[in-house]
Amino acid sequence: MVLPPSRDLRVPGEPPFSGIQTRKQSEATMNILEGIYSRRSIRNFTDKPVEQRDVLEIIKAGTWAPSGLNNQPWRFVIIRSSGVRNSLARLTRYGTIVKNAPICIAVFVDRDAMYDNAKDHQAMGACIQNMLLAIHALGLGAVWLGEILKNAEAVRLLLELPDTNELMAVVALGHPASRDQQSQRKDISEVILNEC
Ligand SMILES: Cc1cc2nc3c(=O)[nH]c(=O)nc-3n(C[C@H](O)[C@H](O)[C@H](O)COP(=O)(O)O)c2cc1C
Repeated sequence: MVLPPSRDLRVPGEPPFSGIQTRKQSEATMNILEGIYSRRSIRNFTDKPVEQRDVLEIIKAGTWAPSGLNNQPWRFVIIRSSGVRNSLARLTRYGTIVKNAPICIAVFVDRDAMYDNAKDHQAMGACIQNMLLAIHALGLGAVWLGEILKNAEAVRLLLELPDTNELMAVVALGHPASRDQQSQRKDISEVILNEC
């Protein structure tokens, strides 16, 4: 197992905002199934800042999610400012996470880009999960915050966005303070309804 990948595994001289060609280094990065099974929601972070190249890679991974008609309805706001994070924190019961994460990414769907409510929201879920897996693969940690959606309009106004943008989630991320989180899943025998 190669978890989590060390920064030392990066190809020396790799351009800051890598394209998909950089997946040539896949032997040095996390196996997809290992990543899926070992990712946990991380809610405590160190003070270490997150590099901009990693933030862009995370957003890029989000944009490589599938979307119906390839309409790519996702939009992002990168929130580093502690002032904005403090304001954001007041809009969720998980404010401590938002305040303490070095960075949050607010993820929106662009209503003007949508063509089908259900399918566009499914694409947004795929986008956010891609981001979480990329964050994990980069040796960072994150939590998908959905409770803040009760104040979606206030978040949109705080970030001064037009009303065509609808908040889907806030992803709080950073360098994990610990990696001892446990999680459970139902046995697959409980969720497979039938086999024909
Ligand atoms: C749609 C959605 C909304 C979520 N909202 C929150 C949230 O507001 N606060 C939080 O701490 N975790 C939130 N989570 C994270 C879940 O609690 C977490 O994924 C779940 O408990 C399983 O744990 P794991 O991610 O470590 O496997 C959310 C996850 C999803 C998919």
